[in-house]
Amino acid sequence: MNDQVTAIAIDGPAGAGKSTIAKRVAKDLGYIYVDTGAMYRAMAIHFIRKGISPEDTAGIEANAESASVTIKYINGEQRVYLNDEDVTAILRTPEVSNMASVSSAVPKVRLKLVELQRELARTNNVVMDGRDIGSYVLPDARIKIYMTAGIKERAKRRYNEMLEKGQECDLAQIEKEIEERDYRDMHRDFAPLVQAPDATLIDTSTMSIEEVAETVKNLVYGPINYGSWQ
Ligand code: DC
Repeated sequence: MNDQVTAIAIDGPAGAGKSTIAKRVAKDLGYIYVDTGAMYRAMAIHFIRKGISPEDTAGIEANAESASVTIKYINGEQRVYLNDEDVTAILRTPEVSNMASVSSAVPKVRLKLVELQRELARTNNVVMDGRDIGSYVLPDARIKIYMTAGIKERAKRRYNEMLEKGQECDLAQIEKEIEERDYRDMHRDFAPLVQAPDATLIDTSTMSIEEVAETVKNLVYGPINYGSWQ
């Protein structure tokens, strides 16, 4: 491990606000932002294209090897490649969300992506968000945050995001899907979503983005010297 590099780990369930905050922290510190959920989503696209159903664990295992997921940074933005194709624009459909949530429980899928995540953190200063970053992928991360919010609030945020993009959606359905994903993420055998014992809990249910940013800023810089972060 190169002790010149620093990692900040942000974990938590879907819709807690991890990526918004992680991107800001990364930009402010000049670190790279690593969205590990996007990697699981790229693998999910591979399985969907192979015609594998989410229930077919053997099929997922058998096809994990043939997926090559890589990351590039273009103008500071993470792009995700599946077998050399940039799939960044098609990662966020409900079908991909569902397949990613199911296939990410398969150890073969996780081990492959954990290797890539650790390699990125070995060679770069990173703000990495996901489910198991502080608890499993980067246990030595300098700062660990477990970010969460109530289910109703998280569903409402997702609903508003989709409305803004002009996508049709149903709030009750979104809440149900998030609940199912939470359950799967928290109850899988291998590297489930848990708060690491040394992670700071931030419940963003009633906080604005600014307030969450302020809280994280205090953890990163200490309460007095904020540096230049706005
Ligand atoms: O953060 P996200 O919604 O883009 O993640 C998609 C899925 O990937 C999520 O349901 C759980 C899984 N995931 C994981 O198991 N471990 C991670 N470090 C990140 C995501």
